[in-house]
Amino acid sequence: MAAKTILITGGAGFIGSHVVRLFVQKYSDYQIVNLDNLTYAGNLGNLSDIESSPNYTFLKGDITDQSFLQQLFATYQFHGVIHLAAESHVDRSISSPMEFVLTNVVGTVNLLNAAKEHVKSGKPFDRFYHVSTDEVYGSLHDDGFFTEETAYDPQSPYSASKASSDHFVRAYHNTYKLPVVISNCSNNYGPNQFPEKLIPLFINNIKHKKPLPVYGKGENIRDWLYVVDHARAIDVVYHKGALGETYNIGGHNEWTNIALIKVLCKIMDVKLGQSPGSSEQLISYVTDRAGHDFRYAIDATKIQNELGWTPSLQFEEGIEKTINWYLENECWLTQVTSGAYLNYYKQQYSK
Ligand code: NAD
Ligand code: TYD
Repeated sequence: MAAKTILITGGAGFIGSHVVRLFVQKYSDYQIVNLDNLTYAGNLGNLSDIESSPNYTFLKGDITDQSFLQQLFATYQFHGVIHLAAESHVDRSISSPMEFVLTNVVGTVNLLNAAKEHVKSGKPFDRFYHVSTDEVYGSLHDDGFFTEETAYDPQSPYSASKASSDHFVRAYHNTYKLPVVISNCSNNYGPNQFPEKLIPLFINNIKHKKPLPVYGKGENIRDWLYVVDHARAIDVVYHKGALGETYNIGGHNEWTNIALIKVLCKIMDVKLGQSPGSSEQLISYVTDRAGHDFRYAIDATKIQNELGWTPSLQFEEGIEKTINWYLENECWLTQVTSGAYLNYYKQQYSK
């Protein structure tokens, strides 16, 4: 029998699939239950390499369904929860904010309730780990970094919904003594990211010689972390993080969008055997995102000093691996960009 049973929500998504893989492969004595509703962003193909592992179970289910969650916790004796399921794309939150309230806020509170009842019934329970974003802190100017003490100041419906869920997690710790831990991470990149986010969208568009829609002047700044390094950090926080604490996770790797896009173009020209400068001709400046946060940058001193985590990969290596993955996984890209994706793309970029 498995020593511990851990529920990972959103495990068929981008970051969740890397976390599930890491836990399934690293902890053979854990039973990993992946709960995912398989929205447009969830894809079981992300986990085909580990799907038949004896310590892995997939369950399709919706975290907004409270009675389903109660049943789930009654069936499985979970020792811990790692909660990643969410609506995660800022542009979608601008067009459909209520979906973000339902999944990110109501879904998280449903899960907290299920965990609370589970603990109340005397079952052993290590922790509820809520995976969040640095976007809850709002937007920085040219200087400074987000620390764990930075006041919340979310600016988009997405970040407002994540901030709200973070507050509920802390409230359940304070009020019901639920053992919780939270992390807030910067922008992730890497294999399996849905091509609505900047890096995979632009790789796909360059490949198909489609315009590269740069919002505003392309001067906004993001701090990019390779997804496997985030999964490693989640492993460390889950096992060593102090209860009730928050840990910021980031790559110390800031890029303006336009500088990053030019790097992508340069590497893609080489990979596609094109003359230098070809992909850059696809750059097209479009109307800025409403309320576009200017800069995110994480101070990751706490997780480094207290838990010994640092990113393992340099950006140059990470972006090369990422581009190679998308070029080598043509089928994955074709599959996720068919069907509903085409409607989304038309709506988002034909304004
Ligand atoms: P994603 O959109 O790729 O995946 C989300 C997953 O959640 C999908 O598999 C989807 O099917 C599932 N899901 C959505 N609604 C659900 C529901 N109601 N019930 C069950 N499952 C549902 O997201 P991601 O980029 O992998 O992000 C994962 C988490 O990490 C999110 O909580 C996000 O806020 C956080 N985060 C993301 C980033 C980033 O750069 N992508 C950075 C920091 C934090
Ligand atoms: P995104 O990948 O959506 O992540 P987030 O908004 O959560 O940081 O966007 C990263 C940056 O790229 C952000 O500043 C918005 C910008 N962007 C574009 O310029 N064009 C696009 O088509 C997209 C999707 C993003």
